[in-house]
Amino acid sequence: MPVNGVGVTAVAVAAARALESDRPDALVVDPWAAALVGASGVAVPFPERWPERAEDIPEVDRSMLLGASYIGLRTRFIDDELRTGRLRQAAILGSGLDTRAWRLDWPDGTRVFELDSPEVVEFLTGTMDAVGATPTADRRVVAADVTAPWASAIVRSGFRPAEPTHWVLEGLLPYLSAHDQAALVDDIIDLSAPGSRAVIERAPALTDTAETRERLQTFALATGIPFDDLLARTDPPDPAAVLAAAGWTVAEISVPDLERGYGRPLGVDRTDSPADQRGGFVTALRG
Ligand SMILES: C[S@@+](CC[C@H](N)C(=O)[O-])C[C@H]1O[C@@H](n2cnc3c(N)ncnc32)[C@H](O)[C@@H]1O
Repeated sequence: MPVNGVGVTAVAVAAARALESDRPDALVVDPWAAALVGASGVAVPFPERWPERAEDIPEVDRSMLLGASYIGLRTRFIDDELRTGRLRQAAILGSGLDTRAWRLDWPDGTRVFELDSPEVVEFLTGTMDAVGATPTADRRVVAADVTAPWASAIVRSGFRPAEPTHWVLEGLLPYLSAHDQAALVDDIIDLSAPGSRAVIERAPALTDTAETRERLQTFALATGIPFDDLLARTDPPDPAAVLAAAGWTVAEISVPDLERGYGRPLGVDRTDSPADQRGGFVTALRG
């Protein structure tokens, strides 16, 4: 089953998780990530093994190691949020090749909804079945596009709007236009019973300058990952502000917060970043 277009980014994240899993100090071990990448047939630029000496490898590989280190932090943080929430309904939007429905120790009877394009959800289901993996939750798959009405599709799959939900938006918002990002957060608010939680990776506020354009296009050409798509996503709304305005209790967690919290400095020079550059994560609770 080929994984095309934006699905390639899901394979890239799985390749990053495979590399993370190979680290001696892994924050997350995803036993299926490497098999999913292999079965996808997509050539991704990530090395397969974590090198003993990161300094000795070529620069493009070094940027892949940095990407994988970030994905390791992000995956572990969201795993920990779900473990803390212990809600019996979780919805992962733009789920890609996420294996949490097999990897995490969910409370008995938890329904985990995974929503992505038909190609991506069918590929994941088919590959996990083929390797004989057994979900640790009641996994429900929703083939849908979050930029079109999707509420009735998730409800038809067994989603219960009257029960609290833990929403996960990981690596999704950067692919949506500012308008679609706003509409998606509104949809989540509408579908959330009291006690619901959300963990959201924010889309960094990108300014569409000639320099940004050239940097993303060069990176896209070098890696084959369509990062230049991100140019269409400038000036997004801030989910923290939208959720707070709807009465949710919101916390903002920066990437440096995660680096400190998990003892994994990424070694990124942020001295030229504008102080107010938005990124990182938002967690929110509907009381
Ligand atoms: C970068 S991947 C992240 C996948 C996963 N969340 C993870 O972290 O491993 C982005 C995913 O969002 C999905 N996606 C992008 N736009 C979407 C849309 N409009 N509706 C549903 N899924 C979408 C893609 O198919 C892809 O699987």
